[in-house]
Amino acid sequence: MDQTLLNINNLYATLESGKEIICGLDLKVGQGEIHVIMGPNGAGKSTLANVIMGHPDYFVKDGNIYWQGEDITDLASNERAKKGIFLSFQTPEEIDGITMRDFLKSAKAATCGKPVPMLAFRKELEETLNLLQMDKAYADRYVNFGFSGGEKKKSEILQLLMLDAKLAILDETDSGLDVDAVKTVKEGIIHYRNQDETHSLLIISHSTKLLKDLPVDYVHVLVNGKIVFTGGKELIQKIDREGFADFLSM
Ligand SMILES: Nc1ncnc2c1ncn2[C@@H]1O[C@H](COP(=O)(O)OP(=O)(O)OP(=O)(O)O)[C@@H](O)[C@H]1O
Ligand SMILES: [Mg+2]
Repeated sequence: MDQTLLNINNLYATLESGKEIICGLDLKVGQGEIHVIMGPNGAGKSTLANVIMGHPDYFVKDGNIYWQGEDITDLASNERAKKGIFLSFQTPEEIDGITMRDFLKSAKAATCGKPVPMLAFRKELEETLNLLQMDKAYADRYVNFGFSGGEKKKSEILQLLMLDAKLAILDETDSGLDVDAVKTVKEGIIHYRNQDETHSLLIISHSTKLLKDLPVDYVHVLVNGKIVFTGGKELIQKIDREGFADFLSM
């Protein structure tokens, strides 16, 4: 089997207005790899994440997105989720009236295509809440409803761990977290990696705190809708020290 999970080829994507946000972007993510995307505000990082997930607000005008060799450019987002692509949103949605427990149970059944055994599910949920140092009571609260910013981010990691995705796209999952919560989220990410060595991550982040202890393979710099530079983990420190000035004219 092809070891490349995600292969994005010369991608152009626009808003409904026709404004181009992603402008000729290439990216390849292999099984088990950890990629980081950094870039100035408004560069198109969240847009890229949404386009990979098939968000209906964005339109692919040219180029292709392949998943394990299959062209998924026009596939609906729930079908992408079934294939094992998971997106943790920069601003997670609140869903009033649906408990975390019910949401996770249906999402799990939808992504694996069969009903979830009750006892095993309950055990897994309790263990995962425990791992993320979240009180058991969260399971019976409505999805993200009334959660603090940090609690919402933890709830995204809870979903990631419960859904066993092949590729986790984390969009600023660390923003707004206190020091202890960054540590817990980082442990959650490491746990996700250790669940299966083929699990891959695409982490969008401005912060070095989260990235420091993760075995990052590649760092991509996204400027004006395009990846203008790719390097190793050392790039994170350079950007932290010097900002994006060197990359703006590339
Ligand atoms: N749904 C939308 N409607 C209008 N404009 C949008 C929409 N989505 C993205 N944009 C615009 O596209 C550009 C890129 O936005 P995006 O959110 O992808 O940036 P980003 O790199 O994630 O920035 P940040 O680091 O601030 O999160 C911005 O100018 C943004 O205003
Ligand atoms: Mg963003």
